[in-house]
Amino acid sequence: MEQFALDALKRLTTRAHETYDLIGVDPLTPVIGAEVSGVDLSAELGGKELDEIKRAFLAHHVLVFRDQKLTNEDHKRFARHFGVLHERQLADLDGGDPAVLELSATKDSDYVDGEDWHTDGTAKEEPALGSMLYVTQPPEIGAGGDTLWANMHLAYEMLSPAMKEFLDGLTAIHDGLVPWQGYTPPPEYVVPKSEHPVVAKHPDTGRKMLFVNPGFTTHIVQLARDESRALLDFLFGLVHKPMLSCRVRWTPNTLVFWDNRCTQHHAVWDYYPHARHARRVSINGGRPEA
Ligand code: SIN
Repeated sequence: MEQFALDALKRLTTRAHETYDLIGVDPLTPVIGAEVSGVDLSAELGGKELDEIKRAFLAHHVLVFRDQKLTNEDHKRFARHFGVLHERQLADLDGGDPAVLELSATKDSDYVDGEDWHTDGTAKEEPALGSMLYVTQPPEIGAGGDTLWANMHLAYEMLSPAMKEFLDGLTAIHDGLVPWQGYTPPPEYVVPKSEHPVVAKHPDTGRKMLFVNPGFTTHIVQLARDESRALLDFLFGLVHKPMLSCRVRWTPNTLVFWDNRCTQHHAVWDYYPHARHARRVSINGGRPEA
């Protein structure tokens, strides 16, 4: 590994030791993800408990809460502590709760949502702050169905100084039609399309992160088409470095809360023909800023 990349990794992994009084926080890896214990999300949380969860969220980006028995109302109440709930554009079509997306895969599925690296909703002017995925029924033991998350701060920080300088100031187009490739969106779907900085700053921590993803980003505005394609392919490929990511193995009634602003995630559909049932609530975010 080059010295500048190693320096970035050392800066991240030698951060100050965190202390929590009310919750347990056990990192999944030194760079992303933590299991949180001692919290019952079906109950109203106290102010200090919430502050500790918020601190752990900013430090680890992906929080895993196991053995939670949650109704949709519990799920939404927990999410509301972090912002306004996202209402699904096509909720009228399925008649479900606009704030709760049912994500089920069975032997009759021909695709699953999120089966490639992506950041949720970046085609919108204001992509989600974060999402909470609650898996009630994972595939049978041994059948898989894990989800991966990658740290996009570290993806940026490990680049060479020259590459960082080149990327700073560029913008990219994110197009809501990309996930529909091979399918026809319903006529009611108003396709979002937005221009965002390629390198954005986290609104709460000020840390920079790479803000392009293969799920939505189509091209870099300031570059020729070939240049943009080559650069995006390189940037998209960074998430394949295993050291940037954590992998969550679902157990029944696990909720994972991730920071959508500085991560990408990937649902692994390796359990066909087994079933997996989940519900997702997302929280509105702000406009990404350079
Ligand atoms: C998603 O992309 O939000 C779904 C992730 C998953 O089902 O594991």
